Amino acid sequence: MCGIIGYIGTKQALPILLEGLRRLEYRGYDSAGVALVAPDPLGGEASGSKIFTERAAGKVSELENKFIDNNLPGLIGIGHTRWATHGAPKEENAHPHGDCENNIAVVHNGIIENYQELKNELAARGHKFRSETDTEVIAHLLEDEPKELSLEKKLMNILPRLVGTYGLAVIDKNDSKKIVVARLGSPLVIGIRGSEFFIASDPSAFISQTREVLYLDDGEVAALSPQGIEIIEKGISKNKQSELLEWSAEKIEKQGYPHFMLKEINEQPKVIEDTIRGRLEEKDGLAHLGGLKEAEEKLRKIEKIIIVGCGSALYSGKIGEYIIEEYAGIPVECEYASEFRYRKPVLDDSTAVLAVSQSGETADTLAAIREAKRKGVLTLGMVNAVGSTIARETDAGIYNHAGPEIGVASTKAFISQVAAFALITLFLGRQRQMSAVTGVRIAEELKTLPEKISQIFSQKEQIESIAEKYAKFSNFLYLGRKYNAPIALEGALKLKEISYIHAEGYPAGEMKHGPIALLDKNFPVVAIAPKDSVYEKMKSAIEEAKARQAPVLALTTEGNNEMENLADDIIYIPKTLEMLTPILSIIPLQLFAYYIAVSKGYDPDRPRNLAKSVTVE
Ligand code: G6P
Repeated sequence: MCGIIGYIGTKQALPILLEGLRRLEYRGYDSAGVALVAPDPLGGEASGSKIFTERAAGKVSELENKFIDNNLPGLIGIGHTRWATHGAPKEENAHPHGDCENNIAVVHNGIIENYQELKNELAARGHKFRSETDTEVIAHLLEDEPKELSLEKKLMNILPRLVGTYGLAVIDKNDSKKIVVARLGSPLVIGIRGSEFFIASDPSAFISQTREVLYLDDGEVAALSPQGIEIIEKGISKNKQSELLEWSAEKIEKQGYPHFMLKEINEQPKVIEDTIRGRLEEKDGLAHLGGLKEAEEKLRKIEKIIIVGCGSALYSGKIGEYIIEEYAGIPVECEYASEFRYRKPVLDDSTAVLAVSQSGETADTLAAIREAKRKGVLTLGMVNAVGSTIARETDAGIYNHAGPEIGVASTKAFISQVAAFALITLFLGRQRQMSAVTGVRIAEELKTLPEKISQIFSQKEQIESIAEKYAKFSNFLYLGRKYNAPIALEGALKLKEISYIHAEGYPAGEMKHGPIALLDKNFPVVAIAPKDSVYEKMKSAIEEAKARQAPVLALTTEGNNEMENLADDIIYIPKTLEMLTPILSIIPLQLFAYYIAVSKGYDPDRPRNLAKSVTVE
């Protein structure tokens, strides 16, 4: 996720900014940059200050290499690590971004949803854009403000024009003795050490320098200068108390969570918001997917989709298969990318191959897409890492916007993939026979999911104690049907990945064709049984398992008290549209796996033998 650092004080800013950027590396990023404002060394007294910017694609070390013979002097500067959201991860798109004259530099976290509209308007007024980012519009909007205004005044004038979220920091050569910051929906914190000030998106970036911090709230703007900190809200200055941080840097990186996996599980309400942000038109039940625009006409005519992926990405694809077929009426097959690449699938002009990949770099998935391209079919990507190879090599696609996932076992990327499949279903369905009424229902329900996921979190303690009870078993069978059959596979995958317990996922109807032979009092069943169209079938499966003395942990819909007579332990999930239940049912299973791994003393962030991104065959 993007990171911000800034410094204003009595020391050289560059080393402080670079150290801050290194400390932000854990968040995941694909480019980095800094900008300083300082007197122009070539210009003499009269020429005033200048903005010096340096950026690099790739690691912070790439950026550092640029300073070997070229140290930027200056006591005021801002820096950024970028996780691409708009535009590929290349130097031109790295922050800080400037205006036409390079008088201003901006770093920004968040998304400006109306940037295209603003960009068109600014371009029509003659502004020249140098990047594909949403952020750059901020610098150009500031450029159009009267030069004599203070930087904070300029910023306050333009902020109402931005739709979306931001944590941002700005420097200006025409008001060169300050940094101005603003926050709306994306964190910003100020660090204080006497008359020196730091800014960052999270305090781990400057924790080695100071522990005295002041958190900005949404709607606040702050101007930092040698005179001190001025906090402004709705144009009026206000007082705010600083506080003392007691956390270590590592704890801050994990925002207080003991593991990245738990942090990422907890981020999931926000991940759903970010995946659907700006993409739903509720009143007409439509999904706007900019990345599919170029392929829109081809997609209208496709008669078959083949979804390929590996691991959790594959399982999200299986849910995609079911929901696209049911709601968009297009035949879909979902298969292992590793198999697809060596089979001889029958492909023709009316087929599209859709690759799902968090990293966008998985070797088998990439090979499958290349094979499909060779055969001349339309290739699509659903990718989290912007600008990754799969994103670049597919004809069109959709980004997940889940932010970087650090835990090896996929959690937040998975649910964002399922939510993105709901968007694709809406997109393809509304191109075809799906009624506006159905579209509206799906769009409305998608928006309720973040709140419903948070409700599941209120059962965390109970899930933890259930996990402790089941941690002693060596084998598990996960069962689900229809949309939740892939959740049985994903739930079992989570458990085996991080707790090294043998777990199998099965569509419940298949239990009687083999796995039932395994069941006894030492072989528990995890039954995903929300009150849906296949609930009665799941009930039978639970009864069959109970008849073999298997302990049963059931997931069902809130209010379904009947389950108390059937299962040994129950976790409830809120009611939602049947096609969207997987987004809720996977949450307790992620927590269940997490707590079992922790109770067995394993580190869920570093499971043995596994890699986050498998770039070899
Ligand atoms: C690895 C990871 C899994 C992931 C799979 C596919 O096996 O450990 O969590 O689901 O790769 O990765 P991708 O980046 O293509 O989604």
